[in-house]
Amino acid sequence: MLTINPRDTGFILLDLQQLFGNSNPVVLEIGSGKGRFLIGSATERPDVNFIGIEKSLHCHRVIGERIAKRGLTNIRQINHDAFLVVRDMLPDASISEVHIYFPDPWPRKKKQKRRIIRPEVLEQLRRVMVPGARGVYVTDHEQYLEIAAPVIAAFFPSEARTPAPSDPPRTNYEEKYRAEGRPIYEVRFRKPG
Ligand SMILES: C[S@@+](CC[C@H](N)C(=O)[O-])C[C@H]1O[C@@H](n2cnc3c(N)ncnc32)[C@H](O)[C@@H]1O
Repeated sequence: MLTINPRDTGFILLDLQQLFGNSNPVVLEIGSGKGRFLIGSATERPDVNFIGIEKSLHCHRVIGERIAKRGLTNIRQINHDAFLVVRDMLPDASISEVHIYFPDPWPRKKKQKRRIIRPEVLEQLRRVMVPGARGVYVTDHEQYLEIAAPVIAAFFPSEARTPAPSDPPRTNYEEKYRAEGRPIYEVRFRKPG
């Protein structure tokens, strides 16, 4: 089963070993967009499992087609809100990396509670990460960074970083925003091991 649909299954707690048929480490990406990071990484790292949570049905379908075309077996996709999926479907200490690239910044004050970097989400990420697991949050939106970085630091040891221009872009948004000359901000965090 390459796609898990909580609308059919309910928000069941997943058994990741059973889901992937092995006990390889599991990397989580939240908001995979068209799947560039997910598919590139899963291709490069066949001994690692990947879960991509993407809320948009259109993007979810695009990724699904790309996965099928490449015959990748180490990705599982979930088309729903990442907070609910992480909170209700992922077991304690089951995720070895968390990747969040260019999450929607929701600039209007009334909608900022939808931002993925918020305390209730980070609390759940800390629960599902294995000791020693690492995470990365990347944005072009300075105001989002200014609010998000202290929230991340309240849950994890973390450090801010600016990707070097020579670092290859990881996602479509990273490529697009770099080409536009926008600054890119990154916060790396880890769960103490
Ligand atoms: C700005 S795009 C970035 C896509 C990709 N990460 C990139 O860097 O190219 C943000 C993506 O996050 C997805 N998204 C937004 N809120 C989400 C949520 N709560 N749960 C899962 N995905 C979400 C959107 O549907 C969209 O595909």
